[in-house]
Amino acid sequence: MRILILGSGGRESALYLKIKESSHADEVFVWPGNGLIPEKDRVARESVADDFSSLKDFILKEKIDFTVVGNETPLVAGVRDFLKQNIPAHAVFGPNKLGAALEGSKAFSDAFMVEANIPHGTSVVAHSLAEAKQLLPQQSLPLVLKADGLAAGKGVSIHHDYESAAQKLSEIFETRIFGDSGNRVLLQKFLHGQEASLFALCNGRDALLLPAARDYKRALTGDAGENTGGMGAYTPGDHLTDAQKEFTRTHIIEPVLQKFQYRGLLYVGLMIASNRADDLAVVEFNCRFGDPETQSILPILEGDLVEYLLWTDDKYAINFPIVSLGSAKLIPYKRGAVVNVVIAARGYPGAFKKSIPLVFLEQPDGDVHVTGAGIAEHAGKYTSTGGRIANVVAWGANRAAARAKAYAYLENFKTANAANIADLYWREDIGALA
Ligand code: GLY
Repeated sequence: MRILILGSGGRESALYLKIKESSHADEVFVWPGNGLIPEKDRVARESVADDFSSLKDFILKEKIDFTVVGNETPLVAGVRDFLKQNIPAHAVFGPNKLGAALEGSKAFSDAFMVEANIPHGTSVVAHSLAEAKQLLPQQSLPLVLKADGLAAGKGVSIHHDYESAAQKLSEIFETRIFGDSGNRVLLQKFLHGQEASLFALCNGRDALLLPAARDYKRALTGDAGENTGGMGAYTPGDHLTDAQKEFTRTHIIEPVLQKFQYRGLLYVGLMIASNRADDLAVVEFNCRFGDPETQSILPILEGDLVEYLLWTDDKYAINFPIVSLGSAKLIPYKRGAVVNVVIAARGYPGAFKKSIPLVFLEQPDGDVHVTGAGIAEHAGKYTSTGGRIANVVAWGANRAAARAKAYAYLENFKTANAANIADLYWREDIGALA
């Protein structure tokens, strides 16, 4: 089978590595990919956003059998709908435009959760600065502001005072820092607790759960600094109990299946308040694999990822092993844990330098590998192109062991990159035991 992955980040690198292992994969391409993906497998073009005609031409010319959409932008713009209309037999991983709107519009998602009685951080929606400023004093602190549309993981801010919230609202509505994505803003109740990311592969009728992960969204060690796309992750996220997984399957994922006949990956971002099965709430839905969670989830999955992905498009029947958990079905995973630490450009998620030269080390053993994200390669030399540059992914017999291996690699990386280390940073507490 000839498989095409759309996207360029750490998530797409992880998908590439796992899909390459599949017995179904003859060729795997990543469009556009990044500098740590072998050049022969990169499609050296602009990222696919909302113009799908060149994608269709490429699929037909290269005889691609299966397109795995890694990132949200083409999904929200309707890439699945386009491909299914234009190349009906083609297999596609990802939801249709309606399902992707769960991520593409936070207001749409909030309205659905109200209708379906899904526990979530309650919100009010402002359509203008005047309306937002009128609503602001009625909200309790801390307060979360969310741009309605896509904002590359930067559309969420947390405020402990009304002044900074008012300032952010002005930046969104007047300076238009998020463009049209900021035409509406949610003022949302802040949820206390521990975050967990639970991913469900969905085929329109049923769901298969992946092992839960823990993402670290704040930029700096100790959960300080601004919200980012994610600065690291670990799997399994055992702080989400089996009873909570079952509750999530029944009360959160099932309504999405019913309403949208959802296919592809449903990302359920949860805040867990206590151990009680129902003491959790949805922070966000996303319509694709999470980044950086995927980099920590895929290495410990048992089985053939391509079979799971094809199952979501009714192109493969379940004849792989699954684990039952009450009414939920789980993809089995290996023992041990994976910790993934993101190497970022200093300043990210704000302004940061690009073209930072980078040196990667020989990987010490099979338990540690590095996947690229915002990185380019020319003639064997690497430079940064984005805020999140690379992921150090380490497996260990338990989380502490995995974490020790990731940070040991980073110590050596620091030495090898001493000339430019002031331009780079990473969190020191990914996977730390609470
Ligand atoms: N890690 C957060 C996200 O993928 O949206």
